[in-house]
Amino acid sequence: MPIRVENLSYTYNAGQPMEQEALRNVTLTIEDGEFVGLIGHTGSGKSTLVQHFNGLLKPTSGKIYIDGVDIFSKGVSLRSIRQKVGMVFQYPEYQLFGETVFEDVAFGPKNMGVPDAELNDRVDQALALVGLDLSLKERSPFELSGGQKRKVAIAGVLAMQPQTLILDEPTAGLDPKGRDEVLSLVAHLHQREHKTIILVSHSMEDVARLAQRLVVMAHGEIVLEGTPEVVFRQAEYLEAIGLGVPQVTRLLQVLKKQGFAVDPDHYTIEAVEEEIVKLLETM
Ligand SMILES: Nc1ncnc2c1ncn2[C@@H]1O[C@H](COP(=O)(O)OP(=O)(O)O)[C@@H](O)[C@H]1O
Ligand SMILES: [Mg+2]
Repeated sequence: MPIRVENLSYTYNAGQPMEQEALRNVTLTIEDGEFVGLIGHTGSGKSTLVQHFNGLLKPTSGKIYIDGVDIFSKGVSLRSIRQKVGMVFQYPEYQLFGETVFEDVAFGPKNMGVPDAELNDRVDQALALVGLDLSLKERSPFELSGGQKRKVAIAGVLAMQPQTLILDEPTAGLDPKGRDEVLSLVAHLHQREHKTIILVSHSMEDVARLAQRLVVMAHGEIVLEGTPEVVFRQAEYLEAIGLGVPQVTRLLQVLKKQGFAVDPDHYTIEAVEEEIVKLLETM
């Protein structure tokens, strides 16, 4: 189910004194099964852009196609689009409301018309995917830890069984352990469940490890796009727009500048370690 946006522009409060242009002429295709990291400084338009992917926002101008169908054309059910393209909002736990975890996770599928008899299975599957114990089902979500609450919220979206999953800053505010757990979950959903993933983040470290392709935004536009290697070669530009490259990549770039024989096109700790070990062996 490829997602394509063409010449997308979006202005908040158009025609009013508080008018704010948030997207300008964005064109982008997300292919089936891809893992795309969408990065940019705060305010660059990431959340606004992804909310178009399942029709939560209607473009001021431009088109959104899912499977080749213009989602704002007549007769298209936005509800079915939202079932296919699931959205985990930033701080999704703020939207928990149920008296029990079960109620929260079952809410989406129930709304979609999944029969009551199937809801329990849906909830169990989703909780298992996010790594939460099924014994939590009857607990109040408000008694859980921050990381657990976030997993409940993610399970609520997974229970709708979307083929594509958008996660808007899913690690924001979590401690390092919670962050690693959420990122491993996202990796699992891509590798094992074969979901198309759009991971929104302002953290290079987070997206670099997982994404196959990075899309960089600044001031409401896509300014850079490509594999992590290609994008991270633009270290100075990335810094100029308030980003930067992963620290380990920066280390290799600095070494290379100093004349050491290293290949700076690495961005995971493991790969950089290997590169440095190779360098040491030549010394
Ligand atoms: N609900 C809103 N009303 C008005 N302006 C908004 C609203 N949401 C976002 N904006 C503005 O739109 C621009 C893009 O914001 P956003 O998409 O949230 O960026 P990001 O997710 O990259 O931080 C910013 O200038 C922001 O202030
Ligand atoms: Mg945002």
